[in-house]
Amino acid sequence: MTMLVSTLKPLVTAPQLPTFLLNAKGIKDLAHEAFQNKGGFAWRTIQFLLFDINLRLMEKGFGLGTPRASREWEIRNLIEQIEQQYLPQEQIPSELTNVEVFMPWLKERISQHRVNHHQLFDLFDSNDLSDEEVRYFLSNYRVNMQRFHLHVAAFSLIVPFEMREELYHNLYDEFGQGNFADAHPNLFEPLMNYFGGAREDDINPETCNLLNTKINLCWFADGLHYGIGGMGALELAIPLQQRRVLAHLRRRGLSEDMVKFFVVHCELDEDHGEGWFAAGMPHMQTPEDLQKVFSSAMRMLEARAGVYDGILNGILEARKQADNYLYAA
Ligand SMILES: [Fe+2]
Repeated sequence: MTMLVSTLKPLVTAPQLPTFLLNAKGIKDLAHEAFQNKGGFAWRTIQFLLFDINLRLMEKGFGLGTPRASREWEIRNLIEQIEQQYLPQEQIPSELTNVEVFMPWLKERISQHRVNHHQLFDLFDSNDLSDEEVRYFLSNYRVNMQRFHLHVAAFSLIVPFEMREELYHNLYDEFGQGNFADAHPNLFEPLMNYFGGAREDDINPETCNLLNTKINLCWFADGLHYGIGGMGALELAIPLQQRRVLAHLRRRGLSEDMVKFFVVHCELDEDHGEGWFAAGMPHMQTPEDLQKVFSSAMRMLEARAGVYDGILNGILEARKQADNYLYAA
């Protein structure tokens, strides 16, 4: 059986860009609208535009010396500058002057975040999901899951030598602790296929936004604090969400082999989150450092919550359409 993970094709290739995206002003205007509304045409177009650039980066590299390199960099930079204008400006309390008092506060904020209490998981708890709805959830989940290890690897390029030990430990786990068949993307595929496989048209703009956010914070941010905050928060929060997915899949009667992806993550990710923060602590010295860690943690969790918003909206919208169809018939 082949274990290769299929790659998603870019959705918008550069030569096919609509004319209103061919100049900086067009992109700026659309990005402002996208981040103001976080919905509709502008949001969708901007997220897929960046997603496409990011897929190309992961597939073909940056293309240094080619026209696409400078063009894609310009688009990426413009979109990030505008997104930053719309991020929440919450400041950490002034009494949190060192990392020892900051960390317990941050962990509390992470556990309180709306991502951990998202309504989507109520559907898992109450077994209120069809096979098709679980397939749609997994298909969106898969987009980020398949590429998670790449953020760890890319981020490792800009962290100090000592911190890389923790990141490579994380990568070792991601690749099945020496058994490639257990690499996390490989564990996911049988479950995905059981529910009917992934489709390109499942992918929501919010799912693209999470990938784009991870790349902005881990690959291209101004310093290492953004990656520490974003990835530490993500890893700490994930088991709380996945436990509810796992319990639901078990109640559906799926074998332990089939749900292994979620079993492994409920066990590993809390350790990973602790590990990220522990490895990052020596490098979190000034109030500015702590502020960056906090802001990026909240930005990443909000992007993850957005993925769940997108999936829940997709499910509810499809149910509404099915109802309308039924009444019309
Ligand atoms: Fe994983």
